[in-house]
Amino acid sequence: MPIGIFDSGFGGLTVMKEIVRQLPQYDYIYLGDNARAPYGPRSFDTIYKYTLQAVKWFFAHDCALVILACNTASAKALRTIQQNDLPHIDPTRRVLGIIRPVTENVDHFTKSKHVGILGTQGTVSSKSYVIEIQKFFPELKVSQEACPMWVPLVENAEHEGPGADYFVQKHIHNILKTDPLIDTIILGCTHYPLLLSKIKKYIPSNIQVISQGEIVASSLADYLKRHPEIEMRCEKNGRRSYYTTESPDIFNNTASIFCDQPIEAMRTSLEGF
Ligand code: DGL
Repeated sequence: MPIGIFDSGFGGLTVMKEIVRQLPQYDYIYLGDNARAPYGPRSFDTIYKYTLQAVKWFFAHDCALVILACNTASAKALRTIQQNDLPHIDPTRRVLGIIRPVTENVDHFTKSKHVGILGTQGTVSSKSYVIEIQKFFPELKVSQEACPMWVPLVENAEHEGPGADYFVQKHIHNILKTDPLIDTIILGCTHYPLLLSKIKKYIPSNIQVISQGEIVASSLADYLKRHPEIEMRCEKNGRRSYYTTESPDIFNNTASIFCDQPIEAMRTSLEGF
């Protein structure tokens, strides 16, 4: 059984890159729901419906463990799927998200106890990061800022161009205005690590910027150690396969923005799941 990695589109590739770097021995299937991306501006009901279809698709492709490598899907669909759907569909399989690994470790980074979250509109409106962080560390002050233009900037390969400066500066300015004591900013969207050099240009050097990939991968390694019943079901031939609900040509082309090696995706459909 391969490990399933899901994203609304391309962004999960930034998370998968780190997972594969730390855990190269496992087989992975990546699915991008590109035909219906972006998820960021969509409603709870729609994101939940799409994500549940994807989880069922992974189960039909024999995955015992699925990672929702999308903040918006993790924020809006994960809890309901874990609590309401999995017990009926198959209680022996697992679906994990990418918000918790970061939120439960945030105290390692902040000294001022003021944290900022940057994410899509969907992630920010769900308040998932704020709720999760305050559950672990009620003493932390958490501020958020939605950056709706950042995903399209990356997907159109404009993230290193001069046009990106305006939108990066604007949202960094806004979040630091909301709370000038922030010393830790979490990039709560899979695309934002690609804007890291621009982000660093506009924040003071005492502020740490946290990308998720490495933390999610370490947390997965730890999870697999603690759950031998899942780990032993994960195949270890180092195979990777990629699926998209859009045209594979479009996927393969844009995927090169997100990862260094060429990808040959196959087309699939979530209809009927
Ligand atoms: N992958 C999404 C996330 O991390 C960003 C792209 C989208 O809005 O679908 O929130």
